[in-house]
Amino acid sequence: MSLKNLTLTDNETGKSIELPLLEGTLGNPTIDVKGIPGQLGYFTHDPSFGTTASCESRITFIDGDKGILLHRGYPIEQLAEKSNYLETAYLLIHGELPNKEQYDEFSTVIRRHTMINESLKTFFGGFRHDAHPMSMMMGVVGSLAAFYHEGLNMNDEEHLMISAHRLISKLPTIAAACYKHSIGEPIVYPRNDLEYCENLLYMMFSVPCEEYVVSPVAAKALNLLFILHADHEQNASTSTVRLVGSTGANPFACISAGIAALWGPAHGGANEGVLKMLEEIGSVENIPKFIEKAKDKNDPFRLMGFGHRVYKNFDPRATIIREVCYQVLEETGIKDPMFGLAMKLEEIALKDEYFVERKLYPNVDFYSGVIYKALGIPVSMFTVMFALARTSGWVSHWLEMMGDPDGRIGRPRQLYMGALERDYIPLEKR
Ligand code: ACO
Repeated sequence: MSLKNLTLTDNETGKSIELPLLEGTLGNPTIDVKGIPGQLGYFTHDPSFGTTASCESRITFIDGDKGILLHRGYPIEQLAEKSNYLETAYLLIHGELPNKEQYDEFSTVIRRHTMINESLKTFFGGFRHDAHPMSMMMGVVGSLAAFYHEGLNMNDEEHLMISAHRLISKLPTIAAACYKHSIGEPIVYPRNDLEYCENLLYMMFSVPCEEYVVSPVAAKALNLLFILHADHEQNASTSTVRLVGSTGANPFACISAGIAALWGPAHGGANEGVLKMLEEIGSVENIPKFIEKAKDKNDPFRLMGFGHRVYKNFDPRATIIREVCYQVLEETGIKDPMFGLAMKLEEIALKDEYFVERKLYPNVDFYSGVIYKALGIPVSMFTVMFALARTSGWVSHWLEMMGDPDGRIGRPRQLYMGALERDYIPLEKR
């Protein structure tokens, strides 16, 4: 909806253009700049998309200054307290909380698609035992397209939804298989009678030779972490999924690209980075040294788990996770010095002028690694856990984009700073 117009005038030519100001249901009004190149002959420059709304979306809203996160209008605090991961996934995809019948149907569908093709299992044998699970995830998830040719008509809404369900269902099976491969244990088949997170823990930690009972504390904590990581509007990996999807690429390729984007330490790789950083810091006395390193512009070191492109206040997810950390460590009886270290680091950083001035607060992943560690999940699997949870967000955005009648291929422009046109010089004359 357009509120009013802004006028942009080129002082040199005297030409003016009226730019419609678009108003969403929440958040900053947004200037529609589409007409500028055609009418004034300029592009807009916004490297790393700090101010550009790349699409219209109805899924998630963030107010970074106030620390607000809403999924389809529901505050993350309420979902974390009252919902479960599958219900949240349904909400993200369909826009409304399911009634009992819809929930049962969704949950049955997701549970029914958990198996992977037997041939896929042989892929794992091709990876070195020490391959990073995220590299295996990217490869295996991308290869799913080779198994579902028949369901990849991107103009068929049913095919789109089946693919979304397949992705949410099968990724935990693939993730657990990555883990099993890395420790040399047989891949465990899913159990469809188990709840989503229970099944993941079962596939990761059970072995065929003895009975395994899933810890309810672990399943509950994982469920909560998954809700907190389920979606976060147009972040780097979600925007990647949308951009790849805008070409009409199949959903498995899109999600594989999302996994690749998530792996970076500035994004989902931060949870692994936090644990490694805490291990490197080692003890409270060393904190000041690392704080100084983080502030030193000549040192590439950054305080992992601190700062966020959008939150300039506490990340509401970090506040919830911090609380859950206490509970998990108490319930599991684990005394992890990492938690104490993380709390002290947070306390010192939050008082430091450098972090205060730049509004650098702990983000969602500052504490998630401590919980994953307490649940027995190896550090190399932390970002995989994030990818599993984010799959529901990625597929929701992909479905929203595919359903947009005005959707076009994503194609940013550039400010060219390269060489002017010049003539080719033959090799012998260079
Ligand atoms: N440690 C030290 N300094 C930092 C940190 C940090 N973690 N984060 C930002 N800064 C500084 C920058 O050096 C910059 O300082 P300057 O203004 O003096 O140059 C200022 O704060 C602003 O930082 P930008 O890099 O411009 O912020 P941007 O929005 O581009 O980056 C990001 C956000 C990538 C999250 C960054 O804060 C970071 O690298 N954090 C550590 C990695 C991390 O935790 N990532 C997880 C993000 S949340 C998620 O994906 C789940």
